[in-house]
Amino acid sequence: MKLSVIAPTYNEADNIVPLIQELETVLHGLDYEIVITDDNSPDQTWAIAQKIASINPHIRVLRRMSNRGLGSSVIDGFSVATGDVIACMDADLQHDPAILPAMLKSLVDGSDLVVGSRYVAGGSMGEWRWLRRIESRIATWMARWGVGIALCDPMSGYFMMRRDDFLRIRDNLNGRGFKILLEIAAALKPTHTCEVPYTFRIRVAGESKLSSKVVWAYLVQLFRLSRLGRLFPAEFIKFAIVGASGVIVNLGVMAAILHSTSYRDWRASALSSLAATVSNYVVNNSWTFRDRAHTGMTLVSRYIYYLLASLLGLAVTTGTFAVISWVIPRALRLTTGSELHTAVLLFLQLVAISAGTFSNYWLNRAITWPSNKVGQDVESPLAVRLPVDASSLPADWISSRNSEPGAPGSLPKA
Ligand code: GDD
Ligand code: MN
Repeated sequence: MKLSVIAPTYNEADNIVPLIQELETVLHGLDYEIVITDDNSPDQTWAIAQKIASINPHIRVLRRMSNRGLGSSVIDGFSVATGDVIACMDADLQHDPAILPAMLKSLVDGSDLVVGSRYVAGGSMGEWRWLRRIESRIATWMARWGVGIALCDPMSGYFMMRRDDFLRIRDNLNGRGFKILLEIAAALKPTHTCEVPYTFRIRVAGESKLSSKVVWAYLVQLFRLSRLGRLFPAEFIKFAIVGASGVIVNLGVMAAILHSTSYRDWRASALSSLAATVSNYVVNNSWTFRDRAHTGMTLVSRYIYYLLASLLGLAVTTGTFAVISWVIPRALRLTTGSELHTAVLLFLQLVAISAGTFSNYWLNRAITWPSNKVGQDVESPLAVRLPVDASSLPADWISSRNSEPGAPGSLPKA
């Protein structure tokens, strides 16, 4: 059984040599490879790694030129890995390589997902500042309760799984976040997880990439994976905002009709909703669904789809309005809906529009702007290539490997 250890790097020039040395000591005697996935670091981490790879057949380097980020680096590294088992660990020596054999044993013994954990007995945060400890605890708590991931350390960047399992879920992974384990755990739904304790070490060289931007990305990622986020995806929220702008159009037209015509019933409601579909269609096309926006003649022809799809929403809105405007006058002992005050009728229309928006979104998503993506991470050149053939990658993505097997553990004095 072969193990692939993937270490994502960005400006880790001072850490890469000691990392490889430590890994080679721990993995000595096993069948393994170490894949460094570097995002074209300005400090030339990739060049150092490529130099090592040219004399050491255990080392491979993936120098990524686009779609940068920790999550997508890990996905690409896992994609080119050749091991039966794949592991991810930080390259800055904060993750203790000594627990790798114990993690591998747990996987062989039947775990689907093995996580290097700071929060199980025997593990620890090491010497962290109290503020960072609290932040980490809050983020962990949110992942456990928001996303429902039953791990003590769901934020860990140190984990191991079978490659087959990864290939099966790869198209469902979004590589934009920093916490790829969260994505993997949510998609894999592992039946047997195991957490192996370790002590998080202090970073000696280089700097952490955990910026406020990363924290914000994490919060967005958490929401997307949470139960609430799955019910109301970001796209739905945009759709609803567009819908809200449509409410203004809708109510404006309705007020004009109530003011200048004798319609005070469902016809006023239906005409107002129809007017709002035009403005909503245009804004949704250029904002909500801009990744698959229609242009030219398609823009015009798809409006018919939009109208058809929206017909259900219109029916829901009009039906809701008809029902509540029938029930309320009777409850208030008035004889017909037309005796209700204009302001009351407008409020009832608002309630009806909310009900229509929900059905509108799901139907339009299915008919007017159907998703054309295979995986979420379409920018990744590897995301659509299955099975992954490392030899088909651009020459500068993987360092040339010496066919002559070099002595394991032999590293240049960089
Ligand atoms: N390729 C690539 N691209 N690598 C990156 C990028 C990127 O954009 N950003 C960070 N890395 C690499 C770093 O070079 C390092 O090897 C590793 O990812 C972790 O980055 P750090 O910046 O050191 O993160 P941290 O120490 O604050 O947090 C880490 O440990 C936590 C505890 O396990 C991460 O692994 C967190 O995900 C984890 O929760
Ligand atoms: Mn780190």
